[in-house]
Amino acid sequence: MIKTFTVAISMFTLCAVHSQTQMPTQGKQDIEQKINTLMAKMTLEEKVGQMNQYNGFWDVTGPSPKEGNAALKYEHLRKGWVGSMLSVRGVKEVRAVQKIAVEETRLGIPLIIGFDVIHGYKTLSPIPLAEAASWDMDAVKRSAQVAADEASASGINWTFGPMVDISRDARWGRVMEGAGEDPYLGSKVAAARVQGFQGDTKADLAKPNTIAACAKHFAGYGFAEAGREYNTVDMSNSTLYNIVLPPFKAAKDAGVRTFMNSFNTLNGIPATGNSFLQRDILKGKWGFDGFVITDWASIREMITWGFAKDRKEASLKAVSAGADMDMESYAYVNELVKLVNEGKVDISLIDDAVKRILRVKYELGLFDDPYRYCNEKREKTVINSKANHEAVLDVAKKSIVLLKNDNHLLPLKKTGQKIALIGALAADKNSPLGSWRIASDDNTAVSVLEGMQQYKGNSLHYEKGADLIVGKATFLDEVVYNTTDRSGYEAAKKAAKEADVVVMVLGEHGFSSGEARSRTSIDLPGLQQELLEEIYKVNPNIVLVLNNGRPLALPWAAAHIPAIVEAWQLGTETGNAVAQVLYGDYNPSGKLPMSFPRNLGQVPIYYNLLNTGRPVDADKNVFWSHYSDVEKTPQFAFGHGLSYTTFKYSAPKANKTTYTKGEAVKIQVNITNTGAYDGKEVAQLYIQDVTASLARPIKELKGFEMVSLKKGESKTVTFTLTDNELGFYDNNGNYIVEPGIFKVFVGTSSDDVQELEFELK
Ligand code: NOJ
Repeated sequence: MIKTFTVAISMFTLCAVHSQTQMPTQGKQDIEQKINTLMAKMTLEEKVGQMNQYNGFWDVTGPSPKEGNAALKYEHLRKGWVGSMLSVRGVKEVRAVQKIAVEETRLGIPLIIGFDVIHGYKTLSPIPLAEAASWDMDAVKRSAQVAADEASASGINWTFGPMVDISRDARWGRVMEGAGEDPYLGSKVAAARVQGFQGDTKADLAKPNTIAACAKHFAGYGFAEAGREYNTVDMSNSTLYNIVLPPFKAAKDAGVRTFMNSFNTLNGIPATGNSFLQRDILKGKWGFDGFVITDWASIREMITWGFAKDRKEASLKAVSAGADMDMESYAYVNELVKLVNEGKVDISLIDDAVKRILRVKYELGLFDDPYRYCNEKREKTVINSKANHEAVLDVAKKSIVLLKNDNHLLPLKKTGQKIALIGALAADKNSPLGSWRIASDDNTAVSVLEGMQQYKGNSLHYEKGADLIVGKATFLDEVVYNTTDRSGYEAAKKAAKEADVVVMVLGEHGFSSGEARSRTSIDLPGLQQELLEEIYKVNPNIVLVLNNGRPLALPWAAAHIPAIVEAWQLGTETGNAVAQVLYGDYNPSGKLPMSFPRNLGQVPIYYNLLNTGRPVDADKNVFWSHYSDVEKTPQFAFGHGLSYTTFKYSAPKANKTTYTKGEAVKIQVNITNTGAYDGKEVAQLYIQDVTASLARPIKELKGFEMVSLKKGESKTVTFTLTDNELGFYDNNGNYIVEPGIFKVFVGTSSDDVQELEFELK
């Protein structure tokens, strides 16, 4: 029996080698039947093995557990006690571990190979926050396709993305990995990313160039108190249902095959042991039939939280709560068999988890061909292909946001100008790769300097001004900024003085955001603010190009610097994208997916806030909701982003003034390109439910549309609002649509809109 199974796999392997793109025809029933047949042969140990995931042997993305030595991992692999590995990459390496699983274990069940393919594998796209700034779902999807294409060519068949955590706190370094502060935009991005990774249909998942996606971190992780990584989360039901959960639901609806739980607690219960989240909502209410992976060591960390006395109790709580696969806790593999044998864990819980895991493995086609993703030819041709570079360049350009452009300083003239390019980040080929780029090679980004050097009509003089960091920045260590060495100032000032325009590239190192990269100041670190002010003294004609993985608070720059370009960390093609935007070969079209505060004291700051009872200064005294020392509005609002051209909006019109529930509300607006360049505009629609059974936000994004307009051209945009947009979740998680007055706001940014009103009966 055992032999037959192994032989069958080998035959499939042979067939599949000759027909890599052939789709398996297995239907859902077929798969369920196969799972049942296979499970009938599995011992308890083998079942528990499927629920165990080990890290590979070199890339480390979390604190190393003491148990984790290679010899033990190999031993467990051979026994069939490992269902998945993470951070094993490269066809040779994946093939080697897969071969053990397939050929040396009793049942030959293939491994599912996970990896943090967050914004690309080798050819990197912009960081996810930047991509969200494109508001272009085709571009976001394409970027995920490139990531899947390259990862799958390297043996990987599962990514730990997309991260769909909403966050309002720029101190939290992981905002770089999400889509920002808004659940509506976040939901669209979540769906686009899932489809980009997995394909449009379930059948696409078995193609050799798609991989399973993972919606993470379920749930609430983006609300870590004070933006401190791994910290406590405390939120209302209203925030949970209306802000946090919608992007997860969108990922589920887009067919995401796995979820990852999170490090935080919710109502005092760690997410890994949280039955309400995993069983009631995800697997219950939403009917999710894929599997849940824990985050790294999060079963064990429940002991540190004080929620379980030892690994055994932690395992009991995690499996009962619906965590199906254990990432690097060494908990399930050591405890679950005992727990079942002692009658503390019902076998049905194990069976359910294993079924879910096997289901995804079947859907990926791993049982047809365990080496489906181990194709040396694809590895050689797909990774770093020209097409992938072109695709990420396209996304990178679209992700740039023009924050300010006084006196039309931008675009730069292409000839006859003396340009000084200043800032260590301008020549940096490493930082633009961002934080989550484990598989990519250091120093492989096109720098801004290299990008600008391609425009030969101007004279370009580069000076770093000051080093950005001291030593080498890495994924595992804190970044140390230069705060003392000013030796480059004089040369930079001289270059600036002689220049017509100064382009300064300043911001954070790529390793200053991402996991475990919380900051208590969100300014320009190191000497950069000082350098900026020094240069400004000799030449105020400055274009500030920002590189950062989170919103920064730059009040001085916002007040003094005439042109500011938000260029994030744009990945491999950074320099080309920035240069094309600076020189006007691409007219910027990005819009902020997160509010940029005036100072840190405003954080958390977000556009979809509640009104409060005292929103305005009605009596001209202090008794209203405000700060005494700074305006309460952000420096740059959610949805803000300029173009080199200008757009004029007509007053929005609704087709009626009164609607009955269920009827579609149609809102029309006419947009005209009134400037001197062809351009693209993201028209945004927000609503406010003015009287409701719960206080509702003053604005909620409920529609957006990208419009391309040639100079002088006008187009009419029609937005449709249905019950899907007009309702909200009550405190029990029920979606309700309430009659009453609604305001509608249409415009170019959350803080630049025109409004109308209608009634819903
Ligand atoms: C911990 C992170 O929180 C998670 O997002 C990531 O996927 C895992 N480590 C694996 O690297």
